Amino acid sequence: MTKLDKALFKPITQDIVEQLMLIELACHPHPWTEKTFRSCIDGRYFGDYLTMDNTIVGFYVGEHVAGESTLMDICVPPELQGKGYGKALLLKFIEQCKTLNTEKMFLEVRAKNISAQMLYINQGFTEIARRTGYYPSNSGFGYEDAIVMSKKL
Ligand SMILES: CC(C)(COP(=O)(O)OP(=O)(O)OC[C@H]1O[C@@H](n2cnc3c(N)ncnc32)[C@H](O)[C@@H]1OP(=O)(O)O)[C@@H](O)C(=O)NCCC(=O)NCCS
Repeated sequence: MTKLDKALFKPITQDIVEQLMLIELACHPHPWTEKTFRSCIDGRYFGDYLTMDNTIVGFYVGEHVAGESTLMDICVPPELQGKGYGKALLLKFIEQCKTLNTEKMFLEVRAKNISAQMLYINQGFTEIARRTGYYPSNSGFGYEDAIVMSKKL
């Protein structure tokens, strides 16, 4: 596990989106477009990116509506995964949800994305629903289920 003493969270602003898009593109087979990313800043959206020694090591984006918060996206560059940054980002999301007086948190994850599911399960999220064939498959053929998870605060 990497030491996180030097980790610094900063709120996501339009200025940093171009750099975060590089991580988004490297992380997801079906990534957000830059336009979508830019539309998920401010208003009901909140998010932070994490730096270590001036290198961006990940980010998350959340949405808060009427006492409920949804984790819209969370990404750590592939070469930096498995070092604890994802956990640090999820804990920051949870902390922000508490500040916003969130009662319940939600997220959605691909059925085959075991590393993300382990991250969420380890922080107390549980499966509440499945959306059959919700995502186009990463292999390019067929579809993949979405697992909906939640955690009360
Ligand atoms: C999901 C993601 C953010 C996790 O980030 P990460 O930095 O690799 O995760 P961490 O190193 O902080 O690990 C967090 C926990 O998950 C567990 N974990 C991570 N990968 C795992 C794997 N392949 N198998 C089992 N457990 C795993 C770790 O053991 C750790 O457990 P802990 O909470 O007991 O310490 C990262 O893999 C990622 O960006 N993936 C691509 C984008 C994506 O799928 N986002 C989620 C969309 S729903």
